[in-house]
Amino acid sequence: MTDKQRKILVTSALPYANGPIHLGHLVEYIQTDIWTRFQNQRGNHCTYVCADDAHGTPIMLKADQMGITPEALISQVSQEHQRDFAGFMVGFDNYYSTHSEENKYFASLIYTRLRDGGHIAKKTITQAYDPEKEMFLPDRFVKGDCPKCGAQDQYGDSCEVCGATYSPVELKNAYSAVSGAKPIEKESEHYFFKLADFENTLRNWVDSCVQEQMIHKLNEWFESGLQNWDISRDAPYWGFEIPDAPGKYFYVWLDAPIGYMASFKNWCEKNSVDFDEYWNEASDTELYHFIGKDIAYFHTLFWPAMLEGAGFRKPTKVFCHGFLTVNGQKMSKSRGTFIMAETYLKHLRPEYLRYYFAAKLGSGIDDIDLSLDDFRMRVNADLVNKVVNIASRCAGFIHKKFAGDLGSIPEPFKIKDAINAGEKIAAAYENREYAKAMRIIMSIADQANRYIDEKEPWVIAKQEGREKELQGICNTGINYFRTIITYLAPVLPQVAEDVKKFLNLETLEWNHQPLFNHKINKFKPLMQRIEEDTISAMIEDSKATLAAIAATTPSAPSAEETELQKNPVADEVTFDDFAKLDLRVARIARAEHVKGADKLLQLTLDLGGETRNVFAGIKSAYNPEDLEGKLTVMVANLAPRKMKFGMSEGMVLAAGPGGKDLWILEPHEGAQPGMRIM
Ligand code: MSP
Ligand code: ZN
Repeated sequence: MTDKQRKILVTSALPYANGPIHLGHLVEYIQTDIWTRFQNQRGNHCTYVCADDAHGTPIMLKADQMGITPEALISQVSQEHQRDFAGFMVGFDNYYSTHSEENKYFASLIYTRLRDGGHIAKKTITQAYDPEKEMFLPDRFVKGDCPKCGAQDQYGDSCEVCGATYSPVELKNAYSAVSGAKPIEKESEHYFFKLADFENTLRNWVDSCVQEQMIHKLNEWFESGLQNWDISRDAPYWGFEIPDAPGKYFYVWLDAPIGYMASFKNWCEKNSVDFDEYWNEASDTELYHFIGKDIAYFHTLFWPAMLEGAGFRKPTKVFCHGFLTVNGQKMSKSRGTFIMAETYLKHLRPEYLRYYFAAKLGSGIDDIDLSLDDFRMRVNADLVNKVVNIASRCAGFIHKKFAGDLGSIPEPFKIKDAINAGEKIAAAYENREYAKAMRIIMSIADQANRYIDEKEPWVIAKQEGREKELQGICNTGINYFRTIITYLAPVLPQVAEDVKKFLNLETLEWNHQPLFNHKINKFKPLMQRIEEDTISAMIEDSKATLAAIAATTPSAPSAEETELQKNPVADEVTFDDFAKLDLRVARIARAEHVKGADKLLQLTLDLGGETRNVFAGIKSAYNPEDLEGKLTVMVANLAPRKMKFGMSEGMVLAAGPGGKDLWILEPHEGAQPGMRIM
């Protein structure tokens, strides 16, 4: 290696401490991990830190609901996150939490420096307040009827039915999603970060520090003007108290990116590394943040501005990636494509996904699709049939005929080209053009297989006097294999480990000389094919894990996809509560598909004279034609709900974990539509 060793600090976004890691997240952590491993393999000094993003209202409320402290919640989730990341071989040097002493220290320090530099303003604002829970409500925690179209149960910032955006005070019949109480308006003094003070710095910084596609986005943001950013929240809030403002807390997004520093500081202390060398204003180390495009505003405007204002270095580059879709669509719980890391790992090995993501990832911000058929076929074709096959075709002869010895280098030696391709592959990795790197590597594997096809070692092995030739062919095959695995090592860390053992090597160095007069070990199968059944089993498992009661509760599809819903544990109800339900036998007069809905069927229910229109989340389990004529049980006095597809006037009862395993309740024949259930 001729370049001088680079000192690089790399981060991935800090996952929220209130939900599990899913395959969408993993695009980012795998992308970052591959880059880090690549840098280290090339002889650079690259450190990768991350942490849980542990503060904020949703975490506070979730802990509340679970009846545990936020500390207990975040420590439980942190363990789950670390287990999942380890399962996918994401090799952080340090995984920490934003709820840490180091983070408190740096958040206070940065705030104080910004304040002393005149970059903090105070202003009294009016906000929705929950008088019962005695807390200010974030927009998402106020619900009510849309001021434009009247749709019920809309969030305080935007309507999912008509797409209108507004402020929570405009909602009609507003209620607090926390307590159900009617919110009041209340004043409070807030602290703001004056982002516009840094406009010039930011305009200069972005030119070289974000991707082409992001520069356009940033220019739009500059055009629309940089607003002051509200960085404070009132108690009760789960976070750090602002040093000079008792009862006020830093908004979670203020201390979240500072968590990168805190995690690194924590690692520096444990490893005697000089923190300041990496973070002082004039640092010549490199700092890269890998993030999803949804959080670009925070990382390309607020964060560099905060660093500048507080006298720290700014990121060398912020790398944005796109979002993961599965089978061409947003991940969906009802289709079983909202796949959690934990569920995947019960069925498939992590390197399949690492390779597939690598084969799909470029340096841009386009979304990437995990098409499950393509995934299976691609992994089988490339890794199993192409790469692993090279070794299995040659290793046997070396063992049986030459006691494991590769012998001398044959002439002409074919793999020079493969070794020379190393710099092109390295450039592709460096530029996060992993798909390109994988293409070059697979074309080398194609060459190797063609070479073996032509030479037919299995024929030569049967002929006497051609031993030297046979050894030369197998030597070439094994050397091809060694070079290919070296280039794939950032993507396939476990395979690389196994191959080191097989080839009797200490390391897989990027710049290497061919192996000769070298003994290798017995070949063991390195990777199995993915079977179709395994994929279906994983999808079914996903559905079962996630279906929950949501399947029986009609809800607008746009909301169903986003947040995981937990099985609500029902509280005890009194007989009077129960008696309020008007449960009736209904005949399904008509059942139809709903255009654009992936889990709903539209049912026309006959209550013996009266008909009702109901949207039921049972499409995964029933064909509409099989439902028509059946008797079922409905809640007849449920308040009508306006949904994306129309008004739903009641609810059908069903049982089961969800997906295909969901059954509507069917009364005995003889029951008549309209009969009351008692
Ligand atoms: N806590 C914030 C980040 C704070 S960074 C100082 C957050 N957390 S997150 O858990 O919602 O997301 C973590 C990362 O995963 C983000 O970069 C996000 O873009 C990425 N992804 C989450 N879902 C994703 C997909 N479906 N596809 C690709 N990336 C996704 O945001
Ligand atoms: Zn609306």
